[in-house]
Amino acid sequence: MASRVQQLSVELAGRSYPVVVGPGARHELARLMPAGARLAAVVTQARVGVGVETGLAQEVFHIGDGERAKELATVEELCRGFSRWGLSRSDVVVAVGGGVVTDVAGFAAAVYHRGVAVVHVATTLLAQVDAAIGGKTGVNLPEGKNLVGAFWQPSAVVCDTEVLAGLPERERRSGLGEMAKYAFLGVPGLASMTLEDAVASCVACKARFVSADERETDALGGGEGGRSAGRALLNYGHTLAHALETVGAYDLRHGEAVAVGLVFAARLARRLGRVDDGVVAEHERVVHAYDLPSRLPPGVGHPELVEAMGRDKKASGGGLTFVLDGPDGLEVVPGVPVDAVRAVLEEMSR
Ligand code: GLY
Repeated sequence: MASRVQQLSVELAGRSYPVVVGPGARHELARLMPAGARLAAVVTQARVGVGVETGLAQEVFHIGDGERAKELATVEELCRGFSRWGLSRSDVVVAVGGGVVTDVAGFAAAVYHRGVAVVHVATTLLAQVDAAIGGKTGVNLPEGKNLVGAFWQPSAVVCDTEVLAGLPERERRSGLGEMAKYAFLGVPGLASMTLEDAVASCVACKARFVSADERETDALGGGEGGRSAGRALLNYGHTLAHALETVGAYDLRHGEAVAVGLVFAARLARRLGRVDDGVVAEHERVVHAYDLPSRLPPGVGHPELVEAMGRDKKASGGGLTFVLDGPDGLEVVPGVPVDAVRAVLEEMSR
């Protein structure tokens, strides 16, 4: 039977890298190791339970579970472990897991010896369609998510769709939240595709944005006619999602928070007169088709959310900044009045 593994590419001047997608893709890992590497430091979490064969001398480094592990202390612990093991600058870090693992291991790789190669083996839907691609790495601070990090592109990414079969239901739904986002970034028909085609389509979409604007420098006005065309658009739905996650205390996974954030963004765009009711209804339809939430969790504190959104790294002086839909499609919109944001939060709590 023909292999259903496909190879895509993130095109970057001089640093393009392959993304291998499909059932059994993890078995291609050895051929993706950087030339000259002798040692592979495999960073994972005990619960991931996906074994990899790098074809090099390898050692497993475990990090803790959950978002709590995404902190500077974990990066220090990893780098000290790499050093004790003798990992050199020409060796490789292999991150095996979801977004927490790829973000933390990617950041450790970015700073260890001022940068060693990293290969991501993404084992969750969320990591396959988003976290493992694009080179943003980092950790959280108590003040906010992803506040310390680096752009550090992997030298290859593996998205083995076979390992998704073992994902807990909440994890799968979390990935679907990011997948729903791609429906608004120009990927049609996702819901009717096979899993591997859906993952590959999202990867291809993300790769186009990353290739066009690797470091998110095109946040405002860089696109055609002064519109944003950059990878900042990948943050669609994320300003509220990050605020929900930062404020915490709500039992929402990242993709579930993104789903709420997508509907919030559509409603905010409507309140600002940028889109009509049909656009809001389409956002709700896509989010509900994936059985994801479209309302704020009960008891959520609006002032805390507004404050957290103000601290979001996309915020710039005067009002808040969001990616919003409009007559010309998605764009980064600064200076959104706080009153409009509050009114939509109210609307979404009913
Ligand atoms: N690591 C996720 C990104 O670069 O967008």
